[in-house]
Amino acid sequence: MKMKIAVLPGDGIGPEITQQSVKVLQAIAERFDHEFSFEEAIVGAAAIDLMGNPLPEATLDLCKKSDAVLFGAIGDPKYDNDPEAKIRPEQGLLRLRKELGLFANIRPVKTYQKLLDQSPLRPERIAGADIEIFRELTGGIYFGEKSTAEDGKSATDVCTYSVEEIERIAHLAFKAAQKRRKKLTLVDKANVLETSRLWRKTVTNLSKEYKDVELDFLFIDNAAMQMILNPTQFDVILTENMFGDILSDEASVIGGSIGLLASASVGNENAMFEPIHGSYPQATGKGIANPIASILSAAMLLDHFNMTEEAEAVRKAVEISINSNVCTPDINKNSEYSTKKVGEFIELNITDPDNHIVN
Ligand code: IPM
Ligand code: MN
Repeated sequence: MKMKIAVLPGDGIGPEITQQSVKVLQAIAERFDHEFSFEEAIVGAAAIDLMGNPLPEATLDLCKKSDAVLFGAIGDPKYDNDPEAKIRPEQGLLRLRKELGLFANIRPVKTYQKLLDQSPLRPERIAGADIEIFRELTGGIYFGEKSTAEDGKSATDVCTYSVEEIERIAHLAFKAAQKRRKKLTLVDKANVLETSRLWRKTVTNLSKEYKDVELDFLFIDNAAMQMILNPTQFDVILTENMFGDILSDEASVIGGSIGLLASASVGNENAMFEPIHGSYPQATGKGIANPIASILSAAMLLDHFNMTEEAEAVRKAVEISINSNVCTPDINKNSEYSTKKVGEFIELNITDPDNHIVN
């Protein structure tokens, strides 16, 4: 198959990790006889520095005319520490999500047997955890009206959701649950927020179309606690934009490193694949960033192309690298493996699957 992939490396460790997933995708194309073309564009702080705009039009155009977007990371501390900054790298990512209509962000969380001891949580509590978080991505408080009073003494962020916005992601979450363990947990704050009550009502109504899925509800504060106490109770979690942002970072602790968590952002016309971690500026250029979250995001990209066997080949190669201790220092403190070495090892295990390269 012929596919056009836009590559947006972004900031910090973005370029180094994305390079590894492009290599992995090239290995897949070769082994399975596909034709993937890659075109790069700038976004985030890198784009502000060059063009004064975190999402230049050329970048957006490229994404729109590609079959998928592979995204690295975004963010730069020089903006984080400047509350007065009007232009910020993150605006590039948020606008991209909105313009591409990527309303559903899917974040799988699972444990690897080999890494059970990596998590600060007790191995027996997390063993077998396998969760898929559906985070709404283009609405809520992230995109509501924002303002700061002229005297600078107050500020407002409005949170709005429509039934339509809730329904379209809820359909996807129910369908995912049908293919998994048939349980869907809606996480909200319906004891306090109007928008959460609308989520509950809308999702409850919709559940009549998915009678084989068991639906339950949790308040976000309780969900945050349950995620740590008993993560194996969860199958698919559905939640709004900001709760999903927070809950998924928390959930990454289960897997042992945030450097392992991939995501897919999908809409009706476009799709983008990115690690859930940020730009990790302290690690930039040091070769210590974990490329696996990006590589597993590339696997989700292959799933999106209906290349199931190809996606499995990537996941298998990642598993071999974890089982062989070919990991960056976030997982293996004394590791001598750099970002690039881990990427190459995974690539090799795709190129030469009959001759599993192990350590
Ligand atoms: C994420 C990130 C982004 C978000 C930031 C960089 C805007 O934290 O993808 O989870 O908050 O959505
Ligand atoms: Mn986040």
